[in-house]
Amino acid sequence: MASITVPIPTNSNEPILDNGQGVIDPDVYFQINESPADLPEFESKLNTFVDFHKSKGSNVVFITSGGTTVPLENQTVRFIDNFSNGTRGATSAEYFLEAGYAVVFMHRQNSIQPYNRHFTHSQMGFLDYLEPMENGSVQVLSKYAAKMHELLTKYNEAKKSNRILMLDFVTLPEYLFKLQSGSKILARLERKAMYYLAAAVSDFFIPSQKMAEHKIQSRDGGLTLTLDQVPKFLKPLVSNWAAKGLIVSFKLETDSNLLVPKARQALTRYGHQVVIGNMLKTRKQTVTFITQHNQKVLSLSQQQMADGIEIESEIIPELARIHQNWIDSGKTE
Ligand code: PMT
Repeated sequence: MASITVPIPTNSNEPILDNGQGVIDPDVYFQINESPADLPEFESKLNTFVDFHKSKGSNVVFITSGGTTVPLENQTVRFIDNFSNGTRGATSAEYFLEAGYAVVFMHRQNSIQPYNRHFTHSQMGFLDYLEPMENGSVQVLSKYAAKMHELLTKYNEAKKSNRILMLDFVTLPEYLFKLQSGSKILARLERKAMYYLAAAVSDFFIPSQKMAEHKIQSRDGGLTLTLDQVPKFLKPLVSNWAAKGLIVSFKLETDSNLLVPKARQALTRYGHQVVIGNMLKTRKQTVTFITQHNQKVLSLSQQQMADGIEIESEIIPELARIHQNWIDSGKTE
């Protein structure tokens, strides 16, 4: 079978600066990739939200949630996706609101959203919760009404008090530009800002200059992809963009022997405050907190799982406690 190699064709002869190991510098990434068209609107909404909460003295958490896509063509028909449906981020947002935080929820478009998640991502369709009335109106079936009333009240309260800001991304470049810009805007809150990086970010991409402009044709048979490595953005985030905030990154593994060493390695390499390790298969039941001097496992029993208790109900109070120490003393414990 014939195969073609992507990137095809190269639109630029400019060399792409790298760190000598084939990975471009994060700053260079922003020079060679186009910023998203809605970045000014994103910044304007976030600036207004941050000003409001700075004047109120609120603690604000910047949650990233869902997976990034990596386009294969500039006029994109095909893309590679990253695993994550956004449950961790959306569930956490609810518990952060309960803990008194203002929440910036930067999520993959159409991924799971706080409060709505209880009805949108179940076995049932939206219309299955409703019944038509003879007078032409529609009402929620009585068995779901109490739960929907409770969640709708919380959701409306969060919106009315301006404590939740919904922002979205789809592609890797959109995510990275918005992460950079968003964390610099939140930096005005200094230690009162927490960055909760639950999104699953692609490690590989095709720079736009190397990407095919039009839909890759199948007439030549199979397709061989060559992807560049995405620079690690935790480094500039920790050392420049959000230097005073509390930064919480996640480490996802499938081999349990690697989880703690890799999580600790990330903490040492980037010098931030918390890494939360989770295993793909048990991520809803068990997480491991890694801080500079401590390691702590939070876990739910089978009975708690059966009762519908969510691990985020343990993660968020623990983080709120660590964040308060950070605000008070610049230390996590
Ligand atoms: O959404 P769900 O389905 O509920 O799943 C939740 C989750 C498993 C996706 C979530 O809990 C999780 O683990 N998220 C992080 C997954 C991930 O991208 O891990 P990583 O090992 O590739 O990256 C580690 C950290 O480095 C991340 O916090 C990421 O923000 C950061 N990173 C990653 C790549 C990159 N180029 N630059 C980065 O800074």
